[in-house]
Parts: sequence; structure tokens; C-alpha cells
Amino acid sequence: MEYFQQSPLQTKIYKLFLQKIPMEKTLVLIKPDAMVKKLAGNVISELYNAGLKMIGLKLVNVKRELAEQHYNEHKGKPFFEKLIQHITGELHGNENVIAIAYEGEDAIQKIRTAAGKTHPEEAEYSTIRGKYGRHVSSTDCFENVIHASDSPKSGEREIYLWFDEDELI
Ligand code: CDP
Ligand code: MG
Repeated sequence: MEYFQQSPLQTKIYKLFLQKIPMEKTLVLIKPDAMVKKLAGNVISELYNAGLKMIGLKLVNVKRELAEQHYNEHKGKPFFEKLIQHITGELHGNENVIAIAYEGEDAIQKIRTAAGKTHPEEAEYSTIRGKYGRHVSSTDCFENVIHASDSPKSGEREIYLWFDEDELI
């Protein structure tokens, strides 16, 4: 048993080490275009490779109010209305969204890298958006498969917008 005991100095060093690890939370939404194509399983498999801890997951029928709050920063932009129609499922037969909360070291960057660039035609083929996304010219919709938080601050904000505290592990 003594073997596992740490000296006060060791404990202090360990705590300092833990503080240096940037533990972040990030929100992923599997968008209606991916849901309608039955891609949820593939997307979740790809995201496992990021090595993060899944701390929440649920199926959501997205209402306009939640969509507008989520995409608040894009209000007033030319693509805003289409974006709301997309995430609420209006463009895809009222499809639902899967919301997933992840936590881990450097979580934001890891998921953004796995997602790829916003425009599916610009995304690397190896990324989720590059592999499964498309730009629909008739509706000018970026069917880009997933949403991924873009900073630790938005990760926190978005997770608590989509999840109640008691829904998170
Ligand atoms: O999703 P991401 O953070 O990569 O991109 P964003 O710039 O925050 O834009 C949010 C979403 O708006 C994108 O994922 C697209 O679905 C949509 N969008 C669009 O339809 N047309 C654009 N020119 C830009 C964004
Ligand atoms: Mg964004």
C-alpha cells in the first residue's frame, strides 16, 4: 500500500501537471442531412478516433427558437434563414439531430480537424465533411454533416444550451 502513497511534493507536482492539461468541452450536432442518409453510426465511429470522452448524447427535434439561439452569431448573414431551415430539419423531411457532448484534452481542435472545412467542396477527403458532405446548388445548402464548436467558450455555451446539467455524465 505504501507504494501508492505520494509525498506532499509529489502531490503538488501532480496537481500542477493536471492544471496544465487544457480539458475542454465541445458540442457536436449530427445534422439532418447526415441523419436522412443514415450516417450517424459512421460519424460517431470517426469521432471515436479523436480519443475524447462522450459525456452526453441525445436525439433532438430542433425547434426554431433553439436553432436561432444556437446560431445566434450568424443572425443577419445571407445564409442565416437557410441554415435555420437546415438544422430544424425543414430541408430534410423534418429529420432530427443527434447532439453529442465530448470532453477531453484539446477537444475543440480535435473535433474541428476531424470535421474538416465548412464548405464540403473545400474539405479534405479524409475528413467527415469531405467524405460525406455536399453542396446542393438548387438550395445553396452546405450539407456539411456535423456542427462542431469553434472555441472552448462556445463549447461551454452550446453544451448547456442543448443539455440540462443532469443529462451530462
Ligand atoms: O460550421 P462551421 O463552424 O464550420 O461554420 P460557420 O461559419 O460557423 O457556419 C455555420 C454553418 O452555416 C455552416 O456549418 C453551414 O451549415 C452554414 N453556412 C452556409 O450555409 N453558407 C455559408 N456561406 C457559410 C455557412
Ligand atoms: Mg461555427
